[in-house]
Amino acid sequence: MTLADQKQKLWDGRFTEATDAFVESFTASINFDQILADYDIEGSIAHARMLEKAGIIGKADLDNMLAGLGEIRQEIALNQFEWSVQLEDVHMNIESALTARIGELGKVLHTARSRNDQIATDLRLYLRDQIDLILQKVKQLLSGILDLAETHTQTIMPGFTHLQIAQPVVFGHHLMAWYAMLLRDAERLTECRKRVNCMPLGSAALAGTSFPIDRAYTAELLGFESIADNSLDAVSDRDFVIEFSACASLLMMHLSRWSEEMILWTSTQFDFIELPDRFCTGSSIMPQKKNPDVPELVRGKSGRVFGSLMALLTLMKGQPLAYNKDNQEDKEPLFDTVQTVLSCLTAFADMVPNIKAKKENMARAALTGYATATDLADYLVRQGLAFRDAHAVVGRLVALGIDQQKDLAELSLEQLKAECDLITEDVYQFLDIHGSVASRNHLGGTAPETVRNAITLARQSLNQNW
Ligand code: ARG
Repeated sequence: MTLADQKQKLWDGRFTEATDAFVESFTASINFDQILADYDIEGSIAHARMLEKAGIIGKADLDNMLAGLGEIRQEIALNQFEWSVQLEDVHMNIESALTARIGELGKVLHTARSRNDQIATDLRLYLRDQIDLILQKVKQLLSGILDLAETHTQTIMPGFTHLQIAQPVVFGHHLMAWYAMLLRDAERLTECRKRVNCMPLGSAALAGTSFPIDRAYTAELLGFESIADNSLDAVSDRDFVIEFSACASLLMMHLSRWSEEMILWTSTQFDFIELPDRFCTGSSIMPQKKNPDVPELVRGKSGRVFGSLMALLTLMKGQPLAYNKDNQEDKEPLFDTVQTVLSCLTAFADMVPNIKAKKENMARAALTGYATATDLADYLVRQGLAFRDAHAVVGRLVALGIDQQKDLAELSLEQLKAECDLITEDVYQFLDIHGSVASRNHLGGTAPETVRNAITLARQSLNQNW
């Protein structure tokens, strides 16, 4: 194909040969970057207004540009826009459409701008919006956790370490641990948003522009809270994408851990909770099955988000300043991460408040694993024994319990005294799981009263700050 046969490129002035058909599709990004179209147009509108304000274009030209861009925006929204691979990316597709509509003037819009600062701007506008959507969903989930936790400040279950029964806790306290993790995720995303919300536009290709642009005005129009102060950095670094991806990975790591717990807890072996039927699926062969597919998928999907983080770090690490085409590879991992996180949060926000706790099973489990052994040791310390010695005494009593298939509270006073004569009748109140949780009433502890306060404070702060 000769150059004349080919659909004219916006940059082919110096070329004597048409682009190879394979190379054309290999280098094109339109199949994935078209989701940035609305941000691209928003950026172009602000840029055009700034050109007019700075006296670089006239008012009539601005009005024509705005009318053309508005029509294109509408066409894209209605899914009537025809995207072309020959035009490579979202920027050139829209610019060509503008020129087709308003003539030569369409080509003027790119004055004092480059696709390099344009794509960095589009991406930041897009990510800013997506972070807001994600934060909304996290807030919904956080509030759902509080609703559920509120109903379980008295529900005793075993707490685990090494997945072995450790000490009794209340289920509400356990839920508030997930709350704390997800709250930190929200804080991280809010921090990250500040750095995303910085405007690269005006950096042009890499060195800035010789036109008298007004960056503060464009930033104001686009709602950016700061303006990038180095043009080379602004067009090239994608650390904001990586930072978001790291925040998303941590969030997915938390959702995945929690998923794992739900999967264990819905098993016949644990049988601590029931998930709503609408979040589970059956088996095509085993009629009795109710599989926790949603948590399993969330656990599985964490892998692609972590993978994208690695892909993005690797993408960036070898790039000399300033913009390189490598950066086009930032989009698919980012878009996939955003979609994945949003869908996992959607599932969790609906599923979590509808978790049904099987209180009797939880309580029974708390009674079976010598969960109050530490309470007994603490009791002996208060009776005057050194902790290490107390630990040894209780260890022997646990061995006795295992041998006789009895919990510590079921051993007779004689049996207890045989190991240590400092033990008196009052010991039984410390061997009781209710007494055990109630005694941990310091800040951060699992006493029902403390947990109720923690939930109230969390609710207030959630409503005020998010
Ligand atoms: N599609 C490109 C990207 O995603 C847009 C910027 C292209 N700039 C260039 N000089 N080739 O990064």
